[in-house]
Amino acid sequence: MLFNFFKKKEKAEPQKLFYSTDIHSHVLPGIDDGSPNTDVSIALLDAMKSWGITAIIATPHIAEENFENTPQSIKNAYDKLSTRMLDTGTEMEVKFSAEHRIDDRFRKMIEDDNLLVMPNNYLLIENSFVQPPIDLKNIIYELQLKDIKPILAHPERYGYYQRKKEVYDELFNAGCEFQINLLSLAGYYGDREKETALWLANRGYVSFVGTDLHHFGHVEVINRFLRSKEYPSIAERLAPAIKNNELL
Ligand SMILES: [Fe+2]
Repeated sequence: MLFNFFKKKEKAEPQKLFYSTDIHSHVLPGIDDGSPNTDVSIALLDAMKSWGITAIIATPHIAEENFENTPQSIKNAYDKLSTRMLDTGTEMEVKFSAEHRIDDRFRKMIEDDNLLVMPNNYLLIENSFVQPPIDLKNIIYELQLKDIKPILAHPERYGYYQRKKEVYDELFNAGCEFQINLLSLAGYYGDREKETALWLANRGYVSFVGTDLHHFGHVEVINRFLRSKEYPSIAERLAPAIKNNELL
């Protein structure tokens, strides 16, 4: 009897993620607000592997105000991590791209054809959290003229869109695809972000899900989410809709 009591209190086994290719993370060492060094990067990759992820496209920030990265600085960080992965025998398919903040530098990168596109010509873009870009629809159009398919990172996190959901319709109808964060579904950022992520999913607007993994705090939240009661139903709802595994 006592044994059964304790057995019931045991936590459920963590589920695996409902996709195996992650397209948004900050695991490259030392170039943004993600992993500070290769030791942490390897530990973050190990966590991802435990969730069933076998391939990632790492996406360091490129943003003129905070992270002055270039395709070359990102390649250098990728090379450092690749060497360390070989040394430690870490198995994971890793490619690199970037999370491009929409700012003047980004507009210049479009002009110069200097963007870090993903496989299948996708490009991960993010808005400022303070205010929306006034020309987002033009930017989407300009990218499309170059045969680039924009993916807006975590649309559920922009407060100014949460309060004005018709913008999601407009952007989606303009051909912008949406990537929501696993952490939003886990409730990490707050109720609004979670509700908005589920609203986008119910509307059929979610093409990709990403970890947006930066640090061990995020790992803990995702570990808990994968053990939660609500996880299986959320996974079942999203899995058929997303295209993560088409990229790698
Ligand atoms: Fe990110």
